[in-house]
Amino acid sequence: MVNRKLLVASWAFLLPATITVLFIAGCKHSTGTSGPNLQQPTLTDASYVGNDACKPCHESEFTSHHLSRHDTTMHPALCSVLGNLTPPSGVVPLGGFSVLRDGDSLIAQRDAGGSDGKLSRNLDLVLGSGKLGMTYVTLINNDSLMETRMSYFPVYKIWDVTPGQEQRAPSDTPFGRVQPNIPARLCLGCHATVISKSGLAVQKNMYGVGCETCHGPGKAHITTMQSGNSAEMHIDRLSSLSPTKLNELCGRCHRNARDVDLDTVEADQTHRFQPYALLRSQCRTKSKEPLSCVYCHNPHTDVSKSSEKYNKTCLACHSPNVRAVHVEQVPVEQQVQGKQCPVNQRTGCVGCHMRPRIAFPQTSVTATMADHLIGPDKAHHANASRPHGTEADQ
Ligand code: HEC
Ligand code: HEC
Ligand code: HEC
Ligand code: HEC
Ligand code: HEC
Ligand code: HEC
Ligand code: HEC
Repeated sequence: MVNRKLLVASWAFLLPATITVLFIAGCKHSTGTSGPNLQQPTLTDASYVGNDACKPCHESEFTSHHLSRHDTTMHPALCSVLGNLTPPSGVVPLGGFSVLRDGDSLIAQRDAGGSDGKLSRNLDLVLGSGKLGMTYVTLINNDSLMETRMSYFPVYKIWDVTPGQEQRAPSDTPFGRVQPNIPARLCLGCHATVISKSGLAVQKNMYGVGCETCHGPGKAHITTMQSGNSAEMHIDRLSSLSPTKLNELCGRCHRNARDVDLDTVEADQTHRFQPYALLRSQCRTKSKEPLSCVYCHNPHTDVSKSSEKYNKTCLACHSPNVRAVHVEQVPVEQQVQGKQCPVNQRTGCVGCHMRPRIAFPQTSVTATMADHLIGPDKAHHANASRPHGTEADQ
């Protein structure tokens, strides 16, 4: 699918050293905290119980979430677990090292130079569900972590540079960058339900973004529900949050406006930082609240490929008479009378006004992400590609 020439070309267009602040899918390693309920939860006691404990009573949410990308964004680096997401054993092109199987485990290995033989590192975890890149991680003394310089893209069956590591940094080991304690904790904390209070160990049942990431610890809720006393739920009911609050919750990982550095290329990455993007769009600045993530996404499962629900959301405000329009997912009090499109007043909205953009321009991977800055049709944009949902809409 991707030839060697292309791969080399992507390396030839590396960004200048001054703007190496491109991170994998928004993986800015910021240390910013952002209000009480938005901080990364830590496992201080047994108040967190894991998704399986919710299954008996919330079968439908459990089933939708199970094996979703949120659920599978962290794996142990074991071939038996990774199955067909496992990279092939051998040299990582342009990586300067090999990834090899060692029983069920994976190791990174390279020549030490001279007569020292080989240098090797056990790979402990891998982040990313496999939709795009998967970055391997080695935990160092339970205090810092090394993220491999190259990430494996299983769909394309290639290794390509881990965004943010295009240039060698002083903290690079022979295999990739070392993240000291705080960024290492943030890194794991955005890909796990909850991390330990100290150290970097993540309990197996806490891998991935789980129920309790969004709803808070479940132990007290379960005890109460089992006792049949439902006066106090002891769990966060999220359907009653305002769009602003809800987006802030998602923005803890998907990036709120305050997490985006406006002095860098990040400012333009409205396809990567969705909560930030929605705040900037006119649909927000000329109305009461931003568009809520759950107007368009079911928080318990992966994105829908059908554009119908997305377009309906637009019509909640951009119809001739919004008082006559009822869209299930948009509360009536959030509807405002918007203008009409001069081009198409029925369909195709997100395809033209949220055009997909290349996710990782610095790699040879051509996958796109939807621009969440809803605005004028940027058909002329250099990165623009086929509009979303064109087949379905024609
Ligand atoms: C023993 C059964 C049981 C278990 C286990 C359980 N729940 Fe519940 N949960 C309930 C019941 C009963 C309700 C009330 C349902 C209703 O009123 O619609 C509820 C309500 C909820 C609500 C909505 C709260 C509200 O105010 O309406 C959420 C969110 C929730 N549970 C999440 C979870 C999560 C997350 C877990 C796992 C950590 C979990 N539950 C485990 C029984 C359970
Ligand atoms: C603890 C961090 C965290 C929180 C909180 C979080 N997400 Fe995510 N989300 C992720 C990560 C990590 C991924 C990437 C999964 C992968 O590896 O493909 C992701 C992926 C997604 C995707 C893409 C799924 C796909 O089909 O590719 C959607 C949509 C999404 N999140 C929506 C939300 C919404 C809506 C909320 C809030 C209700 C939310 N997320 C809260 C971390 C988080
Ligand atoms: C502030 C939260 C946050 C931090 C910190 C973070 N990530 Fe992520 N990461 C995300 C979210 C959100 C996504 C999903 C991106 C999307 O699809 O919008 C993601 C996606 C990814 C992916 C899948 C990339 C892809 O191709 O979609 C990988 C791999 C990844 N992160 C690795 C890392 C590593 C390694 C670190 C730390 C060294 C890290 N992340 C730190 C939030 C975070
Ligand atoms: C990414 C964040 C996220 C994750 C992970 C998540 N939920 Fe939810 N959940 C939400 C949001 C947001 C709502 C409200 C949806 C709405 O308003 O349409 C919700 C709604 C619910 C409800 C309905 C009651 C309510 O709060 O309105 C239940 C029950 C529930 N979730 C259980 C679960 C269970 C069980 C899991 C794990 C299997 C889970 N959720 C995982 C975000 C999440
Ligand atoms: C909650 C109401 C609401 C929703 C939902 C909504 N918008 Fe808007 N949007 C507005 C308002 C208000 C404006 C300000 C201009 C106007 O009155 O139309 C606006 C402005 C716009 C503009 C002009 C932007 C500019 O910068 O010139 C476009 C294009 C647009 N919306 C497209 C969409 C699309 C596409 C969707 C669905 C993906 C959508 N809107 C959903 C309220 C909304
Ligand atoms: C007006 C509708 C709409 C709203 C609101 C919305 N999204 Fe999306 N989102 C989309 C569309 C359209 C896609 C592309 C779906 C596809 O792959 O075909 C998408 C895709 C995504 C993806 C997967 C990466 C990609 O772009 O393909 C993530 C992650 C995501 N959205 C997160 C969020 C978060 C977080 C919020 C809230 C801050 C949010 N979205 C609000 C319409 C919306
Ligand atoms: C084929 C592409 C295309 C489709 C499909 C499309 N639009 Fe547009 N829309 C445009 C163009 C072009 C404009 C003119 C302004 C601009 O350059 O973006 C526009 C303008 C708008 C405006 C601003 C109107 C004003 O008077 O300022 C809104 C609001 C809007 N569209 C909403 C929508 C909604 C909602 C849908 C779906 C029902 C939709 N559009 C479908 C291309 C499209």
